[in-house]
Amino acid sequence: MTTALPDLLRRVTDHATEYEARAASRPVSVAASTDVLRAALGGPLPAHGQDAAEVLDELVRGAEPGLLPSAAPGFFGFVMGGAHPVAVATEWLLSVWDQCAALHATSPAASVAEEVTAAWLVDLFGLPTTTSVGVTSGCATANLTGLAAARHRVFARHGWDVEAQGLVGAPVPRVLVSRACHATVLRALRLLGLAGQIRMIDTDDQGRMRLDAFARVLDDGDGPLIVCAQAGNVDTGAVDPLAEVCALTHARGGWVHLDAAFGMWAAASPRLRPRLAGLADADSWATDAHKWLNVPYDCGLAFCADPKAHRAALRTHAEYLTVAAPQHRDPVDWTPEMSRRARAVVLWTTLRHLGRDGVVDLVERCCALARRLAGRLAAADGMSVVNDVVLNQVLVRFDPEPDRSRAEVTAAVTAALQADGRAWASPTVADGEPALRFSVCNWQTGTDEVDTCADVVVELRARLRHPGALVLEEAP
Ligand SMILES: Cc1ncc(COP(=O)(O)O)c(C=O)c1O
Repeated sequence: MTTALPDLLRRVTDHATEYEARAASRPVSVAASTDVLRAALGGPLPAHGQDAAEVLDELVRGAEPGLLPSAAPGFFGFVMGGAHPVAVATEWLLSVWDQCAALHATSPAASVAEEVTAAWLVDLFGLPTTTSVGVTSGCATANLTGLAAARHRVFARHGWDVEAQGLVGAPVPRVLVSRACHATVLRALRLLGLAGQIRMIDTDDQGRMRLDAFARVLDDGDGPLIVCAQAGNVDTGAVDPLAEVCALTHARGGWVHLDAAFGMWAAASPRLRPRLAGLADADSWATDAHKWLNVPYDCGLAFCADPKAHRAALRTHAEYLTVAAPQHRDPVDWTPEMSRRARAVVLWTTLRHLGRDGVVDLVERCCALARRLAGRLAAADGMSVVNDVVLNQVLVRFDPEPDRSRAEVTAAVTAALQADGRAWASPTVADGEPALRFSVCNWQTGTDEVDTCADVVVELRARLRHPGALVLEEAP
């Protein structure tokens, strides 16, 4: 109970250092079953306390075998990213500082860090200079933020104050959403009471919104119009035809919200920015910093070209809250959250450490590695790369075997890969068919990891050629 903070910090430094030291030799897979974890971490709430250092030791013993090494350079699952050392170290410091980034009054430093990093990011992504920014827990909350601002503005254009009047009796909105949108966009629309008005827009084989399908429904009805587009499809990395979608939507008084959870970072690169043509024309944008910028969870960003709508939708007031002077920023006004970590401090150190060049290098390197991985896999027997590798995502399908369908082969290779420990990737269903998906978005990933990953996938696939040879329990 009595170990002092400096001793505890030294203790976790030792644990963290050991964890790091074993990183190169640790398999990229989960070592413990859920039952083992429950046995290690479970049991009733202790009646009495225990020394904090002992508790930390117990945590490490019990939890470490259940960690998915998603920060490892050989990890290609989901779209996760690693964590830069400077960002991890800042998080530690931030915990000691324990700042509440709700108000300027609760942390002037957090407020200014938001101000400064917001301007850096708006510039980095080439957004309009007056764009407002909210620092959220992730892209899901950033989607909710952007769509709340959208709802405010499009209803206001129809003479309806949705924050004051709600939705009962309101003009009937039209919400056009890419069929390949991320699930969190649909959830945000549901939370905003807009689920009933969603029209799904068909996509092409890359998951891009089809303009012909979009144009067909664009003039159905004349209510408030919100369009949800995407830059960086979660499977293929594909980008919707943003310039056209924005022009058509704006011509009808509508609002375009863009989910760019990882795709947004490509806008930092002058070489890649043309792939996101029209990005700056949207009205709101949602992205993650914990993905491609490689800061630790949780850190997302909501941008809005209409700061008045952004603030009107999110602003909250209570008598006990000390409102900042007009020239200062209250972070609470720009996200649905109130008390929270001072995430922008981590953005500040990471962006300052990397600089513009560092961000561009990170993004371009990951894209080049994704192309390398795709090239290796496309050249192998029994599989094909099914996406245009425009960013950092690679999507692979496997040929069927006489005794197994494509889906069964994909499932078997995926399970074998996840158990193997030399690389890790995760499955998906894209365009109605199962596939194995690789995402390259870790600052530590290099050609060695990519080549190892390709070799392992090819090896595991080849073993399926000999019926019975790939028995999961026997995977190394
Ligand atoms: C395209 C896309 N949008 C939204 C999200 C949700 O982001 P978060 O999990 O950071 O809230 C993700 C996350 O995986 C994503 O890939």
